[in-house]
Amino acid sequence: MKRKLVFIITYLLIQNVTAQIAIIPQPLACKMGQGELKLGGNFGVTGDAVFESSLHYLRKLMLGRFGISTYASLEKEAKMIVKLDSKLQHEAYRLKIDRKGIAIYASDRSGIVNALASLEQVFTGAERKGNAFLLPVLNIEDKPQFGWRGFMLDESRHFFGKEKVKSLLDWMAFYKLNKFHWHLTDEPAWRLSIQKYPWLTQVGGIGNYLDPYAPVQYYSQADISEIITYAAERNIEVIPEIDMPGHATAANRAYPFLSGGGNEKHPDFTFHPAKNTTYTFLTDVLREVKTLFPSVYIHLGGDEVAFGSDAWDNDIKVQELKKTVGLKSNKEVEEYFIRRMADSVAGINGKIIVWDEMVDAKLAKDQTVMMWWRHDKPEQLNKILDKGYQVILTPRLPMYFDFVQQENHKYGRKWGRGFNPLQDVFDFAGSQLDSLGKRKKQVLGIQANLWTETVTNVSRLDYLVFPRIAALAEAAWVPGTGRNFDEFAKKLKKHLPLYRDQGLYYFDPFKDSNPEPAVIKKSQKQYIDNPK
Ligand code: ACM
Repeated sequence: MKRKLVFIITYLLIQNVTAQIAIIPQPLACKMGQGELKLGGNFGVTGDAVFESSLHYLRKLMLGRFGISTYASLEKEAKMIVKLDSKLQHEAYRLKIDRKGIAIYASDRSGIVNALASLEQVFTGAERKGNAFLLPVLNIEDKPQFGWRGFMLDESRHFFGKEKVKSLLDWMAFYKLNKFHWHLTDEPAWRLSIQKYPWLTQVGGIGNYLDPYAPVQYYSQADISEIITYAAERNIEVIPEIDMPGHATAANRAYPFLSGGGNEKHPDFTFHPAKNTTYTFLTDVLREVKTLFPSVYIHLGGDEVAFGSDAWDNDIKVQELKKTVGLKSNKEVEEYFIRRMADSVAGINGKIIVWDEMVDAKLAKDQTVMMWWRHDKPEQLNKILDKGYQVILTPRLPMYFDFVQQENHKYGRKWGRGFNPLQDVFDFAGSQLDSLGKRKKQVLGIQANLWTETVTNVSRLDYLVFPRIAALAEAAWVPGTGRNFDEFAKKLKKHLPLYRDQGLYYFDPFKDSNPEPAVIKKSQKQYIDNPK
């Protein structure tokens, strides 16, 4: 009885501590000690020489977020120390706060940045006395479930700009998300400046999903570099997507000789698969992309080509190509196209990511990662795994953040009656993955995608992303057995005021305070996919 009582009290204390600390995503192990560390004013920080750039980031974070100035000091007078522990895995860290100071251990910069995200959340929740923060004594040992914890933003349909992207990167870092997949080209617009082909943006950058005449908007190469540097400082890799051979409308508008045609609903939707100029042009583009983006990966799309490839049936050059190469269908032409472009990427020491339509394209397993997105086609995931590819899980349900998160919401997408509530995001890739058996090793991680047909303004972006980004972080970081939605909900209640303080128009799942922002568009049609 007594033991049971001790157990219950300890349990309640731990629960209380979790709620008090409110770190999202939940660390693997977090032990609380007695007492607190009082930290304020100007204090010394130091660290092993390898972490010099991390120290700079740390000091900037302390000053920018909490108004705390620090100085580089000797170890004996430092209140914060950053140490190398080469036994820790990539991205793992230990964070120790005792009454004397704070110590962070990691084997590389990624672990330090993750530790700082936890520390930032501890500071955020800490009690304050005057200028000083009262930090709890604690010991955290932590590492992620997945190496790929991604978020995708579509800026072709609607363009949000550098400052919003940086703000999203800040929140990604706050939640230890580490891959930013940037969908920069599609039907409405091409948003990435390519020096060799300036019309891609001068012409292709005009318009958006609702208004083909919206003023030109795109990222210069200087903008892109600035964002990549900003992301890298936060342990975030930026992966560009140049979608092909479909979703190519904006590029075709700029350079009509590239077009392989389309149809009434999707005019000029494809790149021409049977002209060498197409491949040369796109190889030039990818060469610039590879120079600009340090990631080994370029996402080549490969999705939904059939939206426009019927035009190939009436194209003599495509028919000739089919005969010469022995391609039996338009699907095989798509696959041929991607194989050729994959060769171009391999030639510049890159690897590709493609959507799950490309599973049969005979792409090299060590050069290709697949993204499984069609939740209604689990057979695609099985095929990807059986063929031995690495995969990132990003199924529409529950990982598409342009889907609504509450049944009565009107403006986002639904799949029949299906939508993406907070808890479905939180629960994703937990015990479901056990059914994959040994193939689970091939899962690099998970990713949420924000397609922006319905994201006509920043309020809508905020409303769809927050707070689901926090649930995404838990699903990506914490193995299924370590998750508890009720505990998460308690922590989340402490994070909502942070969203409010930063002026985000977030969705409050507890009390529906912010009404759903409307899509301002010509026809007020609801977005419901055909789940056939
Ligand atoms: C996709 O949603 N078309 C990948």
